[in-house]
Amino acid sequence: MIYFVTSNKGKHAEARALFGDLVQKDIGYTEIQADTLEEVAAYGIKEVASRLDGPVMIEDAGLFVDALKGFPGVYSAYVQKTIGNSGILRLMERVEKRSAYFKSVVAYAEPGQESVMFKGEVHGKIGFEERGRKGFGYDPIFYVDDISLGEMEIEEKNRISHRAASMNALKEWLEARKG
Ligand code: IMP
Repeated sequence: MIYFVTSNKGKHAEARALFGDLVQKDIGYTEIQADTLEEVAAYGIKEVASRLDGPVMIEDAGLFVDALKGFPGVYSAYVQKTIGNSGILRLMERVEKRSAYFKSVVAYAEPGQESVMFKGEVHGKIGFEERGRKGFGYDPIFYVDDISLGEMEIEEKNRISHRAASMNALKEWLEARKG
């Protein structure tokens, strides 16, 4: 059993489909202002590990739009809450270069052990409109092969997503350790 500390139901549903034995803990943790997702996750995992007795995992993600020089990146949560998907589409009006990627950093710790971190990315494009009501956050404006993540079932998103890549890397690490 692993505690997954997140308030995001969408993240939990995706993680749950990968790890059977996951318990969501919506207890919050400090998300420091930093230049990288790795720094945010490294700080957060120490905090949650000190508060929960058992294996713990957190995950920090961001959307990086090439034409916007990586924006919103580490500010993705704030930007989603403020200008949202329509705001990103407005910033991208008349922009031809639409490439973007999601990055996920997962951090995991067991009591008394150093934490470990795994990363994943998915590359795609910012569409011209929001499509699909599945998923969460930026999913409706992020397209892979002309289908938005918002149009995908969890199983489809988990075949390609940044989060599935980072979490599968953690799973492999846990399995390899078992021997
Ligand atoms: P955080 O990892 O919870 O800090 O997420 C940062 C922001 O990116 C939030 O607004 C999330 O909704 C958004 N986000 C994170 N992962 C995804 C994803 O898989 N799809 C769409 N939006 C995401």
